[in-house]
Amino acid sequence: MSKIIVLMGAPGAGKGTQARLLQERRGLPQISTGDMFRALLKTQTPLAEELRPILATGALVPDDLTIRIVRERTGQPDCLGGYILDGFPRTTAQAEMLEKIAVEQGNEIGAILVDVPFEILEKRMTGRRSCPVCGEIYNVYFKPPKMDNVCDLHPDVQLNHRADDNAETSKVRLETYEQQTQPLLDYYNATERLHRVDGTRDVEPIYNDIEKIVTGGR
Ligand code: AP5
Repeated sequence: MSKIIVLMGAPGAGKGTQARLLQERRGLPQISTGDMFRALLKTQTPLAEELRPILATGALVPDDLTIRIVRERTGQPDCLGGYILDGFPRTTAQAEMLEKIAVEQGNEIGAILVDVPFEILEKRMTGRRSCPVCGEIYNVYFKPPKMDNVCDLHPDVQLNHRADDNAETSKVRLETYEQQTQPLLDYYNATERLHRVDGTRDVEPIYNDIEKIVTGGR
């Protein structure tokens, strides 16, 4: 049976960093709802205008739209051998729908919490920069690029600073996480599908723990 890996954690916990490594090293597709919404923002469509204020304030995108894009994306052929969900599910309705999707696809679900205390998260969010070409994630405090504000892999490209990575929106994102997403940890824990990794360490030891869980220690 192939696996759906649900990477969980507060905003800035390192889900995207770890999901990208799993994709690169284990060939598992990374499905990030946040990345998909940010890509939609770049389109000149009414949907982009609908999404813009939601992402700008740190609230959640409505469940029906979020579920629709996840269902569509996970139905693509590259997901047949399993995939990583980064930032989904975030609400009870999304978690319930994921159970249905898993049954339809013949997949089982495993959740991994990248556990980082709230006091560390602010610097991770406000210091984050990313390459608009390859998506490489940097941090001015913890993982600065070799040259100021320029991607190591694309020297002609200036790094992006996400619009929602300011102090005010980060605070709302953390509150939204606490109220709507944290309860899902109890749900996965109660069904014995939750693994926790200490996300305060360096990226590699965190990755090693996650990889062991994903491969069943192989
Ligand atoms: P999304 O893009 O999912 O944002 P998020 O959950 O807030 O998560 P982040 O991307 O901020 O953090 P991350 O955990 O991936 O951390 P990263 O690896 O980048 O969602 C954005 C918005 O989209 C939401 O607010 C909502 O509006 C909407 N949305 C998305 N999904 C939705 C859903 N399912 N339903 C409804 N709405 C949805 O790392 C952060 C920084 O820390 C980086 O700079 C990195 O270099 C650094 N770092 C990472 N690991 C370490 C480490 N071990 N040590 C030191 N620094 C580290």
